[in-house]
Amino acid sequence: MLEKFSKWKSNFTATEDAAPGTELDLDNIPKHVAIIMDGNGRWAKERGLPRVAGHREGMKVVNKIVRTANALGVEFLTLYAFSTENWKRPKTEVDFLLRLPERYLKSELPTLISENVQVRLMGQPEGLPSYTLRAVEEAVEKTKHNTGLVLNFALNYGSRYEMAEAMRAIARKVKQGELSVEEVDEDLIGTYLMSGAMRDPDLLIRTSGEIRLSNFMLWQLAYSEFWFTDVLWPDFEAAHFHEAVSVYQQRGRRYGGI
Ligand code: IPE
Ligand code: IPE
Ligand code: MG
Repeated sequence: MLEKFSKWKSNFTATEDAAPGTELDLDNIPKHVAIIMDGNGRWAKERGLPRVAGHREGMKVVNKIVRTANALGVEFLTLYAFSTENWKRPKTEVDFLLRLPERYLKSELPTLISENVQVRLMGQPEGLPSYTLRAVEEAVEKTKHNTGLVLNFALNYGSRYEMAEAMRAIARKVKQGELSVEEVDEDLIGTYLMSGAMRDPDLLIRTSGEIRLSNFMLWQLAYSEFWFTDVLWPDFEAAHFHEAVSVYQQRGRRYGGI
């Protein structure tokens, strides 16, 4: 698909690709894009459908966006699929949400493999049903040598839990004398987070009009660019992704400098 995007500047015209006229600088694609996929419930409600119908529709969008990100040369795509707070939802909805990874991977894993995508899991495995874990772990295992887009599923993920866990692990090492207090710096803390050696997100996208992080990657998003849209996740298209990247490319990232 990349060959469609001529050289390093391109004009997207096909609706499948982007809003007409959207220009993207292929030398300045955000390397790590994180997405809070929100609004499935409202999408379903607007149509008089049960909330799970929105989740089913949202799953189809994941496909499209993985392909779009891969084609643009994004290196890491982190998708917030289930938060540690989402357990508060009715059991039937939780069950449905936790079946989705299995359903998604059952139909898409062969394609992900052939497209050189590497699947990763970011979240607490404990607490996840065995069918969810089995499906994701199989995908992680079968794609671990792939060198293309890293597709990182945030599943049973909560940023405060992640940080508390990292602090506990570091404290244990210090207590055992394996680490000195002086060695505990920002880089070290970063490696103890579930995102591990992954670079921080360059761009955060949240759909559905909510302007909050909902406990998502609080440490890693310290200097990311944020892009919010009212579009509900099931209505999210490649063109919206391109729009977000286009806005990102107009931002001046200063990191406190001038
Ligand atoms: C996002 O859609 C999916 C998850 C949080 C798992 P929601 O289910 O939160 O949809 P809204 O926010 O209720 O519309
Ligand atoms: C954030 O969405 C979690 C995911 C998208 C998985 P929520 O819908 O759970 O967030 P709140 O409750 O509106 O903050
Ligand atoms: Mg929501």
